[in-house]
Amino acid sequence: MKKVKVAVIGYGHLGKWHCQKVAAHADVADFVAIVEKFPQGQEAAKANHPNVKVVSEISEIINEIDAAFIVTPTSTHFALSKYLLENNKHIFCEKPVCSNDEEAMALTKIAQDKKMVFQVGHSERCHEAWEKLAEELGQVQRPFTIRINRVAAFKGRATDVDVVQDLAIHDLDLLTYILKFNPVSVRADGYKIRTDKWDHATMELTDANGSVAYITVGRNHVKEIRDVEITSQSGMIYVDLFANKYATSPSGQYSEGVFVKEENYAKRDHLLVEHGYFYDSILNGAPVFVNFNDGVKAVHLVDSVLKALETKKTVQV
Ligand SMILES: NC(=O)c1ccc[n+]([C@@H]2O[C@H](COP(=O)([O-])OP(=O)(O)OC[C@H]3O[C@@H](n4cnc5c(N)ncnc54)[C@H](O)[C@@H]3O)[C@@H](O)[C@H]2O)c1
Repeated sequence: MKKVKVAVIGYGHLGKWHCQKVAAHADVADFVAIVEKFPQGQEAAKANHPNVKVVSEISEIINEIDAAFIVTPTSTHFALSKYLLENNKHIFCEKPVCSNDEEAMALTKIAQDKKMVFQVGHSERCHEAWEKLAEELGQVQRPFTIRINRVAAFKGRATDVDVVQDLAIHDLDLLTYILKFNPVSVRADGYKIRTDKWDHATMELTDANGSVAYITVGRNHVKEIRDVEITSQSGMIYVDLFANKYATSPSGQYSEGVFVKEENYAKRDHLLVEHGYFYDSILNGAPVFVNFNDGVKAVHLVDSVLKALETKKTVQV
């Protein structure tokens, strides 16, 4: 079988794991190169992947690959994606696909004429809970209220971006993915506690049918919480993304006096799952798991939330 010739760009915190997943897919992927700008990362890459070429610029190996994983800081995603698209390469780009609406528009112009696979790393879609709860999610009555929390203690990572770009983007994408929620307006409050960027933010998004989403994200919290709570006339669904469990309480009862059902769900290796989907799209034409338009939509929502934070006004999405 033909294998996909692959490079990973960026050997930092997440790039290391992406490299491990490329190596784990040796049946479908030829691991050609790791592209890392800085010597420290290059040395680590060489030590962990002695049979893989390590270079500092993507241009050095562009003619040797079919596809690349972009795992560099968000500010570099636009230029790297543009270059890879212009060279007709398949792309897996970590979230966010780019920094803002302006970059998204420019990238859309280039991507629309290309037949390449472009997948975006919205890994929170990989939780098994969404598959197990598909029936319940499909039955949620409109309007509904959804609350999502994604907070943790300060780790000093991703401070080149704010918490909306880094964390809330997962949840803004989940709204569309799990509930087909299309926000029409947003208002938000936030705090710059440790950095000169938003370290904590709470946003309220509404849709045309009166549903409301409240998302809280923070990187200066005292504990780690990642959960989703959906309430409507049809009952309630609660998912603990941290503990990998969920509970449901519909408007009726499960059996005499039993109103709540609790389940654990299997913890998955999200990156491994995403890599599998990527190769399936390239080799077998399978639909792209999180496509370019999904990535652009999430970037637009992030931009809208940031405008709401800066202006302290309700912003139309
Ligand atoms: N899906 C998720 O849950 C998730 C989790 C963490 C990070 N991310 C995303 O992954 C990306 C990387 O995050 P990270 O935490 O690994 O960052 P990081 O800073 O730890 O690593 C980035 C690496 O890229 C290298 N680099 C920078 N510019 C480069 C270039 N032009 N060419 C080659 N190498 C370059 C840096 O030297 C560094 O080693 C970000 O976009 C982030 O949002 C996604």
